[in-house]
Amino acid sequence: MARRKKIYEGKAKILFEGPEPGTLVQYFKDDATAFNAEKKAVIEGKGVLNNRLSEFFMTGLNNIGVPTHFIKRLNMREQLIRSVEIIPLEVIVRNFAAGTLAKRLGLEEGTALPRPIVEFCYKDDSLGDPLVAEEHIIAFGWASQQDLDDMLALALRVNDFLSGMMMGVGIRVADFKIEIGRVWEGDFMRLIVADEISPDSCRLWDIKTGQKLDKDVFRRDLGDLADAYTEVARRLGVLPAASAVSKPTLIN
Ligand code: C5P
Repeated sequence: MARRKKIYEGKAKILFEGPEPGTLVQYFKDDATAFNAEKKAVIEGKGVLNNRLSEFFMTGLNNIGVPTHFIKRLNMREQLIRSVEIIPLEVIVRNFAAGTLAKRLGLEEGTALPRPIVEFCYKDDSLGDPLVAEEHIIAFGWASQQDLDDMLALALRVNDFLSGMMMGVGIRVADFKIEIGRVWEGDFMRLIVADEISPDSCRLWDIKTGQKLDKDVFRRDLGDLADAYTEVARRLGVLPAASAVSKPTLIN
C-alpha cells in the first residue's frame, strides 16, 4: 500500500498531501502544548473535538462569505483543506484583557477593551512568536499594506461571527488567534482563513460563571481539558447532550 506523504508536522496537527493538487489533509493530534511547548501532555479525544469544532466554525464562516481553507471533514481526526501559502503572522483579536496583553499592559484579566484590538505576532517558535508592528511586517516583506488591510478586515469579520455565535450559547470570546494564507485564483491572489479555529486557539469564558472552556484549563491546571472542550461542542450542538458525561461521540 502506498504511504501518503507527510508535508509538515506541528505541535497539534499534521499535514499530509491531499488527493488533488492544491489540497491537503489536516490531521488533529491529541497532543496539547503550552508555553512554546515547555508544557506537554496527550489529552485523549482533543484531536477529535478540535477537528469537529474547527469544521463547525470554518463551515459557518464559509457560509457567510468569509473564505477559509476548509473543504470537508474526512473522518474523526482529518479534514480536507485547501493548500495555502501561510503568511508568517499570528493574527490575534482581543475583546477582553487576558494572557499576554493583560501581562504586558498590567490590565486585570477580564477587563472589557474599548474596542476589539488586533495584534500581529511573527510566527517563529525559536523567538517565542514575538509581537510585531505593521512597520516590521511591511519592512520585512511578510505582507503588503494591502494584505494587512485585508487581514484586519478578515480578522474583525471572524471576531463578529465567533463572538455572536458563542454569545448565543452563553460563552464570551475573550480573544482568539487565526492564521491567514494566500491562494491563487488565476492571476488573482486572495487571503483566506487557514489553520484551525478551536478552543486551543481561543479564550472562551462562560458568561454567567466565568468558567474557562479553552486551553487555559491546561495551561493553568484548572481541570480536565477534554471536558471543557466537550462542553463547548455540546452547547454548539456538535455533540449530543448525553455525551457531556461520557467522552466525545460524534453525531453524523
Ligand atoms: O498568549 P496570548 O494572550 O497572546 O494569546 C492570545 C490568544 O491567541 C489566545 O486565545 C491564545 O490561545 C491564542 N494563541 C494561539 N497560539 C499561539 C499564541 C496565542 O492560539 N501561539
